[in-house]
Amino acid sequence: MRLSLRFILPLAAVLVLIAYSVLPLVDKLIERWFIRDLDMRSAVIANSVREPLLERLGSGSNARIVNYFNRITQDERLFAIGFCDVAKGELIATKTFPKDLKCNDITAVENLPARMLSGKRGMLHVTVEPIEAEGSRIGKLVFVHDMSFIQRRSAETRKFFFYFFIALGCIVSLITVVIAHMSRRGWVEGTRALLRGEIIRRPGGKKTATTPELQPIARDLRMLIRELETEYRPRDENQVTWTPETLRSILKTELRGEEILVVSNREPYIHVKRDGRIEVQRPASGLVTALEPIMRACSGTWIAHGAGSADRETVDSNDRIMVPPEHPSYRIRRLWLSTKEEQGYYYGFANEGLWPLCHIAHVRPTFRAADWEQYEAVNRKFAEAVVDESGTDSPIVLVQDYHLALLPRMIRNRLPNATIITFWHIPWPNPESFGICPWRAQLLDGLLGSSILGFHTQFHCNNFFDTVDRLLEARVDRETFTISYGGLQTAVHRYPISIDWPPAAEFTAKPVETCRTDVRERLGLPPDHVLGFGVDRLDYTKGILERFMAVERLLELQPEWRGRFSFIQIAAPSRSSIGQYKEFQVQVRDTAARINERFGNEGYLPIILKIEHHEHEAVYEYYRGVDLCFVSSLHDGMNLVAKEFLAARDDGRGVLILSQFTGASRELPEALIVNPYDIDQCAAALHVALTMPTVEQRDRIRVMRGLISEFNVYRWAGRMLLDAATMRRRGRILERSSAE
Ligand code: F6P
Repeated sequence: MRLSLRFILPLAAVLVLIAYSVLPLVDKLIERWFIRDLDMRSAVIANSVREPLLERLGSGSNARIVNYFNRITQDERLFAIGFCDVAKGELIATKTFPKDLKCNDITAVENLPARMLSGKRGMLHVTVEPIEAEGSRIGKLVFVHDMSFIQRRSAETRKFFFYFFIALGCIVSLITVVIAHMSRRGWVEGTRALLRGEIIRRPGGKKTATTPELQPIARDLRMLIRELETEYRPRDENQVTWTPETLRSILKTELRGEEILVVSNREPYIHVKRDGRIEVQRPASGLVTALEPIMRACSGTWIAHGAGSADRETVDSNDRIMVPPEHPSYRIRRLWLSTKEEQGYYYGFANEGLWPLCHIAHVRPTFRAADWEQYEAVNRKFAEAVVDESGTDSPIVLVQDYHLALLPRMIRNRLPNATIITFWHIPWPNPESFGICPWRAQLLDGLLGSSILGFHTQFHCNNFFDTVDRLLEARVDRETFTISYGGLQTAVHRYPISIDWPPAAEFTAKPVETCRTDVRERLGLPPDHVLGFGVDRLDYTKGILERFMAVERLLELQPEWRGRFSFIQIAAPSRSSIGQYKEFQVQVRDTAARINERFGNEGYLPIILKIEHHEHEAVYEYYRGVDLCFVSSLHDGMNLVAKEFLAARDDGRGVLILSQFTGASRELPEALIVNPYDIDQCAAALHVALTMPTVEQRDRIRVMRGLISEFNVYRWAGRMLLDAATMRRRGRILERSSAE
């Protein structure tokens, strides 16, 4: 609109100017034409009246001459006629002849082709024609023409020209605006594509990487964007202490206080009924562990499936509830799913299909069309809730995990200006593995509705690039880490997730020594009993069986540990209605029982298995009270248990044994890195851990704690939000340049 006005207004001004300077010229021209016409008419009339006039002059009757003249002046344009008789010096004229027009004056103007006089009917034009008889001049005929018709015509012509110029102006403006818009769109698209480094499709359909006319502009714009980015880059990421406060300030300054919407399947607080009372539970979930402190810091709304037995009773009329219960600072918006929906979407497609597909744990994925239908429908339901909860048309939405792969595209379709940051918490497999999913293209399309797509490791990013490259018609740019697909660009980056740092004071309030004592007392173990520890959801990807087998092998190979060493395994029941999980639970129980049978005795259990949910405080007591922590996942996006264990050990003691197939192993090489499939190696690692000198434990722990303190969860979220802020700024610059 602004652009159109900028074209139309100057154009209109120019046209008005033209109209005003042209119209007087047109007037003059018309007048000149008509006067010439009148002069010619006068000459014609003079010729035709000559004979009758001479005949009437000869009769000596002036009255006859006047009558004759009166008849001639019936013509509307001929106002008066007079004859100046040279011999008698008299004027014979119609009554209408102007009084102030004397024969002498007329002589003076005789040679003039025309003359204007003031008359009562407006402007008059006088033409003089000599009358001769027998070779000598006897007088002159004076014709006085009424000029008002010329003025009438002139006014009409002016009106015509006026409307003509207006119409012309409108047509020219319209054409100009249409052409300007068309070329501007082309220009903007071209420049945008160039800025993204894309190939431009020429009108002929031919692809070309170079558009010479746009290159300099694109170069300038790129420079400008870079300058602005440097100018606005709030701080050097490394120089910042990443705290909740840092995040809040990023939100305020970089994202103009935009509200954050988090969307995940799992909710951070579950209300359950137990013994007639309502209890609040925090689920065993890495996702919740990471995001909860972020939401405490940033407020906003967390949209999730209300799965607790008392969830409906605790929300308000809009299905919302403020949390954390002890200090409400953000809101959960609960979404209700029917049993059929939950079965198809969560248990079926997400956890029997995508989960085993992405974790190479040698469990065959199951894909059912009916599950896919529910998956789609529930993703749509989440999209509705996002639109519902979003206070603006450009919210910042953090979409979490494999349950919601279609959601980014659905949000993008409804809120095109939203900044959608999707984080994939589990591994991304190679294209061959992913390619077996019947709905692979739909899942990729869904994810590529995101502005930013995050994985824990570069390895998973690369797998994703390979998968898109193989399965979609998209442009994968491994230099800028972007994918252009369907006119949209998605940045794909590595954002290793982490934990709250420093950990909440209540988790580390109990001294380590007290934790050691309490844990052993509770288990009926002597104070010097050596303890290993593992805590996971009861999931076949966690390598729990392999862990137990490693303990068994240790006791086989190093009998000195029998009776002195036990391994505590907390396993939170998870996805229990899925057959594979049920079977797995049986296997875990059986394996623990078998090993306990083999090496245990009254008062001694090599494996202490606790299949039940434990709250954070209880888990932290174990972290602080044990001698080693063993994370043996067969495949894991990150694994936050490893990081939590290190965070809990502010005494600098303890050893972490970590599977090489976790994302965490890339960040924590000071742990004892093992291949969980190699049982002997794991048993050896257990022995090394149990005999590691205190100094070495301290050295290793110090380095790893240092890393986590630097790369905590606020930095994880902060980096994504800063990238989102840069993206939004870049978008605004492009927006502004296209509005120019
Ligand atoms: O690892 C993927 C993940 O979504 C984690 O983020 C979380 O720890 C876990 O799965 C939760 O599983 P569920 O929500 O099925 O209990």
